[in-house]
Amino acid sequence: MGIALIVHGGAGEIETVQAHRRGVEIAAQIGWDVLRDGASALDAVQAAIIAMEDDPAFDAGFGSFLNRDGIVEMDASIMDGRGLDVGAVAGVTRVKNPIALARRILESEHTFLIARGAEEFARERGIALVENETLRAPEQIAKWKEWLAHPPRAPGGGTVGCIAVDRDGNIAAGTSTGGMKFKRAGRVGDSPLVGCGTFADNLLGGASTTGWGEAITRVVLAKFAVDALANHRDPNAAAQIAIEHLANRVGGTGGIILANRDGQIGFAFNTPRMALAFVNEQSRSIIAEC
Ligand code: GLY
Repeated sequence: MGIALIVHGGAGEIETVQAHRRGVEIAAQIGWDVLRDGASALDAVQAAIIAMEDDPAFDAGFGSFLNRDGIVEMDASIMDGRGLDVGAVAGVTRVKNPIALARRILESEHTFLIARGAEEFARERGIALVENETLRAPEQIAKWKEWLAHPPRAPGGGTVGCIAVDRDGNIAAGTSTGGMKFKRAGRVGDSPLVGCGTFADNLLGGASTTGWGEAITRVVLAKFAVDALANHRDPNAAAQIAIEHLANRVGGTGGIILANRDGQIGFAFNTPRMALAFVNEQSRSIIAEC
C-alpha cells in the first residue's frame, strides 16, 4: 500500500492541449505535496481540484463553459471512502470554488444542496459569494457569442476530477464542472451525482468521470467502475471495462480515472483526447498526458 494521486482535466476534442497538460501537471503536484505532507486524501483531492477550478484552461470554476443565458453554472461532488460521506452541489453561479463548498456540505448533515440554497449555505459557512461576471473568462464569452449564432455540436470536455489514496489507506474522489457547452439553464450532468461522476469506498477504490454527462448518468459509471475493481485488481482493466460498458450500453463517450485501495491507478477514455496526470510511490514523479 502507498500514497497515490491521479487527476483528470476532461475528455473530448481538447483544443488547448499544452494548457491542459500543464494544468493537470500543476494540479497533480499540488495534490501530491498535500499527500506527502501527511494530510488526508480528502484534503489532497480538494487542493488539486481547486487548482484546476482556478485555471481557465478547464471547464470548472473560472473558465467554465457558459450556459445558453451566458451564465457560469457549476456542479461538483466529493466523497470520502472511509464512511461513504459525500458532499455535492449543483447549479451554483456565485461560488469561486464549488469543490470547497461540496466539502463543507460533506462535513454537514446534508449530502446535496443546489442553486440558491447552496449559496445561502456557503455564505453561512463563511465561503464568500462572488459575482458571476468574475467567473466568466474572456475566451468563454467569445465562444458563447459564436454559439448564439452556431450552437456547438459536441458537448465539450474540460470537467476536472481527482482521486487520492493517503498514508492511512483512505481513498477520496472528487469532480467539478461547468457542465456541457451552451447547456440549458438548470441542466445538471453526472459530475455532482454520487456514483455517476464520483465514487469512493475504502473497501475497493475511487473513481471520477468526465464526458457526456447524460450517458454517464444512465450507467452510473463511477460506481460501475469501482465495483469492477472487485474482479479486476488492475485499475486499467476495470477502467477499460467501464468505458466499454458506457459505449456499448448507451452509446456514451467520455473518460474515467480509477485508483484501487493498494494505490494502483488506471484510466480509460473513448474520446480523441483526455487530460490526466498521476503519481504514486513507485513513480514518484508526475506523469502528465493529453
Ligand atoms: N460530464 C460533465 C457534464 O456532462 O456535465
